[in-house]
Amino acid sequence: MSEPLLQVSNLRTFFTTEEGIVRAVDGLSFTIHKGEKFGVVGESGSGKSVTALSIMRLIEAPAGEIVTGEIHFKGQDLLRLGDEEMRKIRGAQIAMIFQDPMTALNPVYTIGNQLVETIMLHQEVRKSQAVDIGIQALDDVHIPNPKVRMDDYPHQLSGGMRQRVMIAMGLSCNPDLLIADEPTTALDVTTQAQILHLMLELTEERDTAVMLITHDLGVVAGFCDNIQVMYAGRLAERGTTDFIFDNTFHPYTAGLLGSMTRLDEVREERLYSIRGAPPSLINPSNGCRFTPRCDFAQDICGSKTPLPREFGDGHWAACHFAPDLDLSRVKRAERVG
Ligand SMILES: Nc1ncnc2c1ncn2[C@@H]1O[C@H](COP(=O)(O)OP(=O)(O)OP(=O)(O)O)[C@@H](O)[C@H]1O
Ligand SMILES: [Mg+2]
Repeated sequence: MSEPLLQVSNLRTFFTTEEGIVRAVDGLSFTIHKGEKFGVVGESGSGKSVTALSIMRLIEAPAGEIVTGEIHFKGQDLLRLGDEEMRKIRGAQIAMIFQDPMTALNPVYTIGNQLVETIMLHQEVRKSQAVDIGIQALDDVHIPNPKVRMDDYPHQLSGGMRQRVMIAMGLSCNPDLLIADEPTTALDVTTQAQILHLMLELTEERDTAVMLITHDLGVVAGFCDNIQVMYAGRLAERGTTDFIFDNTFHPYTAGLLGSMTRLDEVREERLYSIRGAPPSLINPSNGCRFTPRCDFAQDICGSKTPLPREFGDGHWAACHFAPDLDLSRVKRAERVG
């Protein structure tokens, strides 16, 4: 594996609300290497976006706060940088694209305006050069007639085209890391596949690392080298994509795999569904947060927090009974493609 690019250690990001303190990310550590395609998976509310926003230092104070942790990017701790230094990293070295491009694009400016502005913010080029770079960036994401499209407003483009523009913007400054937070969730299945394929092709070419956030294991399967499964603000399991699909040690991952739809198979039995709902992150109970939903839980699970343990080759699981559970009944699903 190549050199570490991003090292997150013991990250805790909390929000103060009227109901209490939400422990959105609660002691998370992971590393993304140069050029790595790193998937982050988990149900709604598991802390995926908060992790991404913490890396970007976009957690809104005073309600939100990174309480502890270190986020080393190319050797420097982002949490110790001044706002100005961080602004230089954001967009230029770490770029982020979101689920809904309409919230990220300004409706009153043309695509070209916004692209050129992004490029000029981070690269020392004249406007005419920035326009050329922008047109090239649209061409790279296979937008037809890029010169003409520069004059379009966001609403004139389809959802898929807008997401291509976001990718063009994200990659226009050649970042080392692209964080893509549910970039295809709002798109139909065919467009989703095209966008993922495009993102993979472009980031492979440039050796850009990608942190791909999704609740869909099927999406990460074809894209990522490694997968991190999160549950209630913590790590459940992490490993190579092959290992997670073939040899999961964690009941939660097994549940996600078992509830995954496969396009290439008519299932005899019903899909597995994980019973219950994720816990509140305000005053969460002691022990493993998955306990109330786990088919394998025993007494210790409700009282003692299982720390992530490494089982070799970068495979980590946070379960007291890993690797001894027989999860085949739950899991069943195998990788498609
Ligand atoms: N600004 C905020 N104020 C209070 N709580 C917040 C805030 N932002 C996030 N949270 C809480 O933090 C937890 C993690 O949220 P996060 O958005 O990271 O989830 P997620 O895994 O990205 O979910 P989804 O799949 O729905 O996008 C949730 O319980 C959420 O309600
Ligand atoms: Mg999210």
